[in-house]
Amino acid sequence: MIPVNEPRLGARELEYVNECLQTGWISSEGRFIEAFEQKWAEYCGMKYGVAVCNGTVALQLAVACLDLQPGEEVILPTFTIISCAQAITYNGGIPVLVDCDPRTWCMDVGQVEAKITSRTRAIMPVHIYGHPVDMEPLQEIARRHNLVIIEDAAEAHGAEYKGARCGSLGDISCFSFYANKIVTTGEGGMVLTNNEAVASRLKSLRNLCFQKERRFYHTALGFNFRMTNIQAALGVAQVEAIESAVQQKRWMGQEYTKRLSQFKELQLPVEEAWAKNVYWMYGLVLNESTGMSAVDFAKRLAEAGVATRPFFLGMHEQPVLQDRGLFMGEHYPVAERLARQGLYLPSGLSLTQVQLGEVCRVVGAILNGR
Ligand SMILES: Cc1ncc(COP(=O)(O)O)c(C=O)c1O
Repeated sequence: MIPVNEPRLGARELEYVNECLQTGWISSEGRFIEAFEQKWAEYCGMKYGVAVCNGTVALQLAVACLDLQPGEEVILPTFTIISCAQAITYNGGIPVLVDCDPRTWCMDVGQVEAKITSRTRAIMPVHIYGHPVDMEPLQEIARRHNLVIIEDAAEAHGAEYKGARCGSLGDISCFSFYANKIVTTGEGGMVLTNNEAVASRLKSLRNLCFQKERRFYHTALGFNFRMTNIQAALGVAQVEAIESAVQQKRWMGQEYTKRLSQFKELQLPVEEAWAKNVYWMYGLVLNESTGMSAVDFAKRLAEAGVATRPFFLGMHEQPVLQDRGLFMGEHYPVAERLARQGLYLPSGLSLTQVQLGEVCRVVGAILNGR
């Protein structure tokens, strides 16, 4: 089976993790935490980094900094992972959805303004599968309505919008370093900001709101969302190698596109003129004219030794959110189609040219042999 993803880990990762084990710095103190926070913030073009234990809680902490009052709203794309919606609901807010752009699969920024009410506090753009959101119109809307932008750049390490890195385009940005991410720490996440007060709040919330002056004395409730020094050690080694990882992803994306563009039944990822796509995952949308859904297609691919993953199912189609009375009767046709016709192909950093060729051969054989 050609896997969807596998992490790329090298000698540096081993060396730095070994240092943690040999020195005994295995919890959330030690030199790698700050080094990772600094290196990642610097790479993304932001001032402060706060490392946490995964991308889901990075979003939760970012939204916590809004101090949402009950009934206040955050606008996000329906086509994303549930971490985004639950970061809002856990903080007492209401997620408000927009559909996605049919080309980039990212939030349709043209739909945002119509969703703004007197209760709207923030917008949460999500850069999908490595392609940035069209941020400039969003930044302009946020400025005009005095809204915070919380950028979810979990899938867009190294991606760029008009020359600026994803993660530097909002007020607060969030990352995941799960094993399938371009930079991985196994499990892990980070929140970036240029605001010193926000960074200090994030650090406090991450660590049970301990007071500096007197430990075990609390004036606020926090969380234990700390990252370990071992994870950060992996992260430092990974950031040192990010240029070659991004290059490999871009090679993979361009190579897939070159070989698959002959199939008119497939919609392939784009790279808009203002974007640098890092092809975190190489997605396909299968035309309904094939008579196959993504589930049928995935099954055929798996039988031929090619692993895939389905696209996201929109937040408005999630029973757990509908059960809370959210999104009743709402429809988002682009996201609904992507959820049914979309999947992604093997996209790991270790994918070889031979494997990529085999994936394309199998895709072609299924489409031609229908
Ligand atoms: C867009 C997006 N945001 C947030 C997350 C959550 O990250 P984690 O899996 O580290 O909790 C993911 C997960 O992969 C994601 O794809």
